[in-house]
Order: sequence, then structure tokens, then C-alpha cells
Amino acid sequence: MIPQHIVSNIIETAQIEEVVGDFVSLKKRGSNYVANCPFHNERTPSFSVSPSKGIFKCFGCGKAGNSVGFVMEHETVSYPEALRYLAKKYNIEIPEITDDKQLEEQKERESLFIVNDFANQYFQNNLYHTDEGKSVGLSYFKERGFRDEIIQKFQLGYSMEASDDLLKAAKKKGYRLGFLKKLGLMSSRNGRDFSFFRGRVQFPIHNLSGKVIAFAGRTLRKDKKIPKYINSPETDIYNKSKILYGIYFARKSIRQKDECFLVEGYTDVLSLVQAGVENVVASSGTSLTQEQIRLVKRYTSNITILYDGDEAGIKAAIRGVDLVLEEGLNVKVALLPDGEDPDSFIQKMGKTGFDNYIKEKAKDFIFFKTDLLLKETENDPVKKAALVRNIIQTLAKIPDPIKRALYVKECSKLLEVSERMIINETNKIKWTNIKKGQDGQPQQSRRQGNMPPPSSPPDDFYLEQQQGKTYEPTLDRPRELVELSNELHERDLVRVLLEYGQKEIEIDVPVAAYVVNEVEELPFEKQIYRTIVEHYRAHLEEGRVLDSDFFVSHENEEISRLAASIICDPYQLSENWEKMHQIFITEAVLLFKEEVFNLMNRYKLRHVMKMIDENLQNIKDCKTEADIRELQETHMQLLNWQKQLAQLLKTAVVR
Ligand code: UTP
Ligand code: MN
Repeated sequence: MIPQHIVSNIIETAQIEEVVGDFVSLKKRGSNYVANCPFHNERTPSFSVSPSKGIFKCFGCGKAGNSVGFVMEHETVSYPEALRYLAKKYNIEIPEITDDKQLEEQKERESLFIVNDFANQYFQNNLYHTDEGKSVGLSYFKERGFRDEIIQKFQLGYSMEASDDLLKAAKKKGYRLGFLKKLGLMSSRNGRDFSFFRGRVQFPIHNLSGKVIAFAGRTLRKDKKIPKYINSPETDIYNKSKILYGIYFARKSIRQKDECFLVEGYTDVLSLVQAGVENVVASSGTSLTQEQIRLVKRYTSNITILYDGDEAGIKAAIRGVDLVLEEGLNVKVALLPDGEDPDSFIQKMGKTGFDNYIKEKAKDFIFFKTDLLLKETENDPVKKAALVRNIIQTLAKIPDPIKRALYVKECSKLLEVSERMIINETNKIKWTNIKKGQDGQPQQSRRQGNMPPPSSPPDDFYLEQQQGKTYEPTLDRPRELVELSNELHERDLVRVLLEYGQKEIEIDVPVAAYVVNEVEELPFEKQIYRTIVEHYRAHLEEGRVLDSDFFVSHENEEISRLAASIICDPYQLSENWEKMHQIFITEAVLLFKEEVFNLMNRYKLRHVMKMIDENLQNIKDCKTEADIRELQETHMQLLNWQKQLAQLLKTAVVR
């Protein structure tokens, strides 16, 4: 236990920008810092650090917290571990642990690591420096094509045939039998103790900090009755569902390549790394767990699963991948030619052959699954219906609405079912999950807002919308398209600037530039909105696109307060905004570009209508015939403009 006053001291001392800055390169923006988020992949920075508030927040993935939280999240350590890390960084002394039980547990874990480390050295020593190890173990690895550097890198070893060899070596160094047993390195039967691994080549399994937490041993015998691989049992330091083989060596490369290959076997990892494909981990023959996926997700959101081309491989590929999708990862699958595993394949083809094959064969998981099942259904309508349901279940698991919409489009082509039908079905599933509170978020009360009543299922809402009960405007009534108050429109415009200002609407054209350009002529009723737009304009002229932080941390309190509240707008409208957003995947809602274009068109339409009113007034007041004719011409032009804008908006709304 760390005493409370020390905890407070640590938290007060730790400067968020210094703590984050050790892991992420921060750029100063106003009084804050920004960076590409270390917790999800992005090209434009949405990760922000506020020294004054002492917090970090990612507007992309939503992760937020103080310096302790950052260390916990980034290093995947516990709360006390994060505190200790910070204490060390700031030279804050933590008084000795007084809690006996905790001290005991910590000592025990440390002992387990130490004994495993000894065993690891011992197995390696056997491999290189004993006759048995050299002639049996090392020559086996060599035969399989593994070179010295890879054998050393992965710290491969050999366990002697003699069942008392390990214990003898351990005793010489003063390690106790109890720990060897706890780690599963020794077993006992009928009062006799013997080594668990005997006459096998040894693969140590490392945790993220490179410590050995377990071993796998492969037999060298052809005998089918003995298991090919045996593994250390689970212990206080080894939970097999939480680790992936090779992650310690692969993590840097995974982050750099922004992709992770997932294979089944230990030797697959070795061969890929040896050939130069370093971003690879193995699930060790079991189906993936959520914890393992999250492990990968810390470094990339792109995962390519490599499986053998046989039936078992295909089945394995399909099993468990829904889980990966649920975590929001992009999953590709590549089936290897029949009879090959990644190890044999890359040894045969080399890295170039491997890369080319993956480039050509890796298929998006959903298409892979659709294709595969489609072949099975042939022309059987009953089977086909089941297949469609199956695929829809999978589609519903994709959390990102934009990604989901793209998949829906492709799958509808593959399955020859209408996109609308797939959307409706996926929406139903998502809706049911949300109602059951299974969408990763607790159920919340729903406020009244612009959103449909919560009891109506989303597909009904969509239909209603389509049939024009709710929103369909007509060309004769363009006013309905812009019937919100002026202030709301201006606010909406500023919202779009704050939210998307830095995104590109066309190549090299940020949204802010487009919007500011377009609103040049239009009057603002509320000064503060005008001021914000002018800020954007002034900075654009210097080639800089402001971000929302600039305004949120603006010295003018009115501006900063407004900016902060606008950014939170959607959540005020409805707590379920995000959920709703994920449900109504109409193309118009999906694409921010459309949102921006629509905004501008609404803006223009409003302006045109104002001009029409003014113009009509002028006609009324007009004295000379010639002037009236000119004004009438203007009127016709304006009406035409209004019609065009209404048409654009109508298709955008109704589609
Ligand atoms: P494979 O049978 O495909 O073995 O099992 P492999 O990795 O290709 O090994 P080699 O090339 O024959 O040496 C794939 C993975 O399944 C787990 C291991 O993690 C193995 O790497 N496995 C397999 C076991 O845990 N126990 C077994 O008996 C077999
Ligand atoms: Mn193999």
C-alpha cells in the first residue's frame, strides 16, 4: 500500500505534458498540446493534453484521464504500478510496504520470474553447451531452417531427457523445488519428482516487458500418441488468454507497419521473423480472446490472419473473428495454399513471394466469409437465408458506422440482397443490443430532442423519413428546409467549423477554407459567430487552420464558453446521439462532406429567401417601370436559385 499523502504528492507533482511527452511527441497549440493519439490510429491529431487541467483527452477514441491514468493505459499497468512509475520519474520516495500480504505476493511473483529466468538460461545452455542438446535440439532447429540469430533472439532451448537434470541444476544455484513446481517446471507422481519438459525443444513465452512467464516444449518424436506441444500451466504470472506469443519482439514493428499478422504456431512466428516479417504474433493454436485482441489494438487496428488452406484452417478463421470485429479492428484473412502453414510457405517463397501472395490474397474478413459461405449454399434458398442472417449478425458487430455502410454495400452485391434490407436488419440487431444494454455502454435515459421517440425501431424511423411523414420537404415549400432560427443556423455553421474545420473536403482544401470562402457574402446576425468565422479567415490567410482547442482555450471567455458548449452540442441534444448515429446509417448522415455541403446549401437557401423578401419589398416600393422590370428579373433569378438549392437539399434529406 502506498500511503495516501504520497499518492497525493505524486499526482500533484506529475505534470501531464511531461508524463505524456515521454511517450508521445507533443506539439504546442495555444495553451495546450496535441499529438496523434497513441491509443488509436489516426493521421490528423485529435489527442490533446491540457497542462492547466492536468488531463489528456482524445476526441477520436474518447480516452481521457490524468497522468496516472495515462501511464496505466499506455503501459497497461495497474494503478499502484503507475504511481510507482511516476514516483520514480519525479524522485518521490515511497516508504516501504507495510502490508504483509501484499509484500508476500509481490515477493512471490518476483521469485517466479527469477526462477523462470533461471530455467530459460538453463534450457538455452543445454541447447548450446551439452552434447545431447547440440545433437538433438540444435540440429533439429537447423534442419528446420532456423538460423542462429533467430534461435538466439527467441531464446530457444532444449530440455534434457533425464528427468532429474533440471532439479540438479536448480539446487546447485539454490532454487527451491517449491517454485519449480509452482511454475509447472517440475511435476511429481507417486512421491517422485521429475521434470515436466523432457527431451523437447523449448520456446520461452515472454510478457510485454520481456520477462519469461511460461514455456512451450515441442517433442522431436514422430509418435502421434504424445502431444506435439506441451505448455506450462497457468500461474500467478501466466494467463494464457492474455498473452500472444511473440508480442514482445513484434510490438515495435507492429506499430511501425501499422499492421499485425496473426498466425497459429510458434514456428510460424520464427520463420516469418527470420524472413524479415517482424510484425507477427501467434495465438498458439487456441481461438482468440478479447484480451489478446486488445493487446494488438494497443499497437495497430489492422490485423491480417494467416491460416492454413485446409478445412480446419478455414473453420478456425471463421471462429472468433466476430470478436475482433467487435473491437473495431480491420480484419483481413489470407488462406495459404493447401498443405502449407506460414512457416513452410515463407521458407519456400521468401519474403517477396510472401508479400506478393498477401497483397493478392488477403481478403477483408466479411467478404471472405460471405464468399466462402456463398459457395456452400449453391442454389439452396433456405441455406441462403441462413447465410444472409449470419452475415448480418457479423455486420452488426462493426462499431464504426462509416465502415459498416461500406461493408453493407459490398455484401449486398455479393449476396444479391438489397442494401436497404441489410441495413434494416443490422439496425434491428444493433437496436436490440442497445436496448439490452449490450452496446458497450450502459443504458441511459433518453431525453426529448430532434431524435425519434425511443420506442420506434430505427428501420421504422427510416421508412417514415422516406415516406415523407417527418422530414420530406417539397419544392414548393423550401422554407421547411431551413425553418430553424437564424441563430441556430449560425451556430450550426460554427459547429461544423469546430468539428471538421481541419478535415479535407477536397484534396488540400480544408473544410474551414471552403466554408469561410462560401460565407463571405452572407450576413451574420450574432456578432460572436461572425467573430469566430473571422478568426478562421484571418488564420487561413496565414495558411493556418485553427482547431477547436484554439477557441475552447480562447482568452475571451464568451468565445471559449461558446466553443466548449458547441462541441458538446450533440450530447445535449440527445445522450443517445452517438448510438443513433451508429444506427441510422443513411449515406447522407454518414459522410461529413455531405454534412458540410448541406450546411452550406441551407445557408445559401436562407440567404436567397431573405433576398427574395427584400426584393419583393423593393418591387412594392418601386416607382419607375424600368426599375420594376429589373427587379422582376432579379426575382426570377432568385426563385431559380432557390429552386436549385431546394432540389439539392431535398435529395440530400430524402435519400
Ligand atoms: P501446429 O500443429 O500447426 O504446429 O499447431 P506448428 O506450430 O506448425 O508446429 P510445427 O511446425 O509442427 O513444429 C499450431 C499451434 O498450436 C499449438 C501450438 O501453439 C502450435 O504452435 N499446439 C499444437 C499445442 O499447443 N499443442 C499441440 O499438441 C499442438
Ligand atoms: Mn508447422
